[in-house]
Amino acid sequence: MDSIIVTGGAELAGEIPIAGAKNACLALMPATLLTDEPLTLTNAPRLSDIRTMTQLLQSLGAEVASMQDGRVLAMSSHDLTGVRADYEIVRKMRASNLVLGPLLARAGRAVVSLPGGCAIGARPMDIHIAGLEALGAEIELRDGYLHAQAPGGLRGAVIEQRFASVGATENVVMAATLARGTTVLRNAAREPEIVDLVRCLRAMGARIEGEGTDTITVEGVDRLHGATHPVVIDRIELGTYMIAPAIAGGSVELIGGRRDLLPAFCEKLEEAGIAIDATDRGLRVSRANGAVRPVNVRTEVFPGFPTDLQAQMMALMCIAEGTSVLEETIFENRFMHAPELMRMGADIEVHGGTATVRGVAQLRGAPVMATDLRASVSLILAGLAARGETVVNRVYHLDRGYERVEEKLSAVGARIERVKGG
Ligand code: UD1
Repeated sequence: MDSIIVTGGAELAGEIPIAGAKNACLALMPATLLTDEPLTLTNAPRLSDIRTMTQLLQSLGAEVASMQDGRVLAMSSHDLTGVRADYEIVRKMRASNLVLGPLLARAGRAVVSLPGGCAIGARPMDIHIAGLEALGAEIELRDGYLHAQAPGGLRGAVIEQRFASVGATENVVMAATLARGTTVLRNAAREPEIVDLVRCLRAMGARIEGEGTDTITVEGVDRLHGATHPVVIDRIELGTYMIAPAIAGGSVELIGGRRDLLPAFCEKLEEAGIAIDATDRGLRVSRANGAVRPVNVRTEVFPGFPTDLQAQMMALMCIAEGTSVLEETIFENRFMHAPELMRMGADIEVHGGTATVRGVAQLRGAPVMATDLRASVSLILAGLAARGETVVNRVYHLDRGYERVEEKLSAVGARIERVKGG
């Protein structure tokens, strides 16, 4: 298994291009199942999670061609030959469950394994199930699989989600595009990836309003057609690389960066003393001289502080001048990076969903273990600021969500390399 070696201490300067959003792309790809015409995505990220979704769609009979070095995905679901998302694929990636809504809508049937994915909490599916049942689906759990069917087709309904789940919102909206009548989804997720999915569905002929608000209205249509859609930029990759100059010092321009994708995160970074300036091409982030100030963070649904940037923010707080408190409200068990950061000299105390971080003057390089996707990258960020060498082992999680992390960071002056493992 590959490792990444970071030697800390180099200030960063230059630019980093931000890729298309993994989480948007993972919802956009299953939308191909809704139509027998071609759906093409441009600005796709080149990540192992995208290859996993490609395999899953192919196992259902979809054609997926990866073009222009993976930047363009040309998909066609002219003939669906399967309706089963097997455990072997779903266990690698929870987002596999996003085929459930589209399969029900198009084929009237779906068999989807309960998910695995990052080990960051229980991650149930009850909100997805409640939404799809309200649309008329009958869903049973047998042998670890959800067996769903809608023999008479789906019909519109008023649905109130108990929590604004991103995945459940995506599944229900996709299913509702082909349901009979109108669906009103209340307490819908408002994340930019939902907005991107709705834009694509609309380009395919769906009738949807209210994306980006907490109420989404979908008027079902008889069929959807093909479209070409550019994937929105990855705000989590953006936020991660915004932390890089903040923690290492220096100034980096994030090409494609947009503040409106990360409003709460940008505010917190500025509160910590980091400068963020809009440029013609994106955002410039700088830490000229000043120390990093401690800030308290509570993760929330959009537009609040994203849970997917909590680990990276914790890495930054490890070198702040003072004490900060980070509260995780979205996932249980999402502080697995804390003990690894402590191996690097960080002073962190975790109680339930709250971590208290007392800043230290200097982190020290150490061998550490990547436990989940965002935890892995937080260790690399900490390594940029540490004295000596940090070896991040088990980086396969990283490759699920960050394309060529070592190339992007070394291009701005970081000393980082990948060592191929067996
Ligand atoms: C998506 C993102 C993930 C991000 C998360 C929260 C993708 C592929 N992944 O995950 O990176 O961290 O949003 O912003 O887009 N829950 C239930 N029942 C359900 C569904 C969810 O209890 O039926 C709980 C989950 O266990 C979790 C919380 O709700 O505690 C948030 O989950 P959700 O918003 O569904 O996240 P995902 O769509 O899985």
